[in-house]
Amino acid sequence: MPDNASAPTAPTSPTPLTLLGLGAMGTALARTWLAAGHPLTVWNRSPGRSTELALRGARVADTAADAVAASPLVITCLLDDASVREALADADLTGKDLIDLTTSTPAESRARAAWAAERGARFLDGGIMAVPPMIGAPEAGGYILYSGPRALFDEHRDVLSVPAATRYVGEESGRAALYDVALLSAMTAMFAGARHAFALVENAGVDREEFGGLVAGWLAAMAPATAGFGSAPSAEDVTSPAVVEAGDAALFRTAREQGVDTGLLTASAGAVTGI
Ligand SMILES: NC(=O)c1ccc[n+]([C@@H]2O[C@H](COP(=O)([O-])OP(=O)(O)OC[C@H]3O[C@@H](n4cnc5c(N)ncnc54)[C@H](OP(=O)(O)O)[C@@H]3O)[C@@H](O)[C@H]2O)c1
Repeated sequence: MPDNASAPTAPTSPTPLTLLGLGAMGTALARTWLAAGHPLTVWNRSPGRSTELALRGARVADTAADAVAASPLVITCLLDDASVREALADADLTGKDLIDLTTSTPAESRARAAWAAERGARFLDGGIMAVPPMIGAPEAGGYILYSGPRALFDEHRDVLSVPAATRYVGEESGRAALYDVALLSAMTAMFAGARHAFALVENAGVDREEFGGLVAGWLAAMAPATAGFGSAPSAEDVTSPAVVEAGDAALFRTAREQGVDTGLLTASAGAVTGI
């Protein structure tokens, strides 16, 4: 868990809230607020995704505008920023607190904050660092990044802490999206590297399960080194350029021997410099 993250806590009072978006993530979020006793109004563009939540006590609104009207606190968890604009087009946001957990870019988040302010709403942006099974499961280590007015975050901290730990990263509304997408970018490259590793052994008759354990273990062992990438490496930490060059060359030769595309290596060669 991040060092200044707060663990999920039981709500002191049942804050009513509205959630727009009942995809995999929205549904996981909704279950936790209902389980914690918060009166929840939900809306989803396509009907039929709210049946289970209604059985658990959610009020189902027919339109996004009705859902927004139902609660002072409105959470969006939709596909992308454009879908948030589209879903809220006819809603009256005057006096609402809008918290957008949809993945967006930093510039989109800043523009959405200005857009919300023009419509009379206070706005926080959120970035979910978790997959749905990690929601409502504090031991899984997921958390949600937030940026925007600190006072607004503090006001809603208890209800926001129900689905996952929270991490407030600053007043600048694009900051949560920046951290979110930066961390997702690191994950994307890691996943691509792991798939490349599996491609290398594909036709070598290896035990894929055993090899998968080695991949995960090696990545976990090396992961702590990435925390220092933002600062200059100390002299003893630097791998010599000759070793980096020879190592990279071996990666390329092995890929060619195994008949695996070298595009990923071309993009990432030299990445071990500084470890
Ligand atoms: N799933 C994850 O592992 C994960 C992890 C971290 C963050 N997130 C973020 O959480 C957000 C939701 O993800 P998800 O997994 O719940 O996605 P999902 O299962 O694909 O659901 C997408 C949701 O967006 C709605 N939607 C799409 N276009 C819309 C539009 N134009 N107007 C209104 N509603 C629209 C969909 O409604 P319909 O049912 O009508 O299609 C659905 O409710 C995304 O921003 C995603 O990046 C997801």
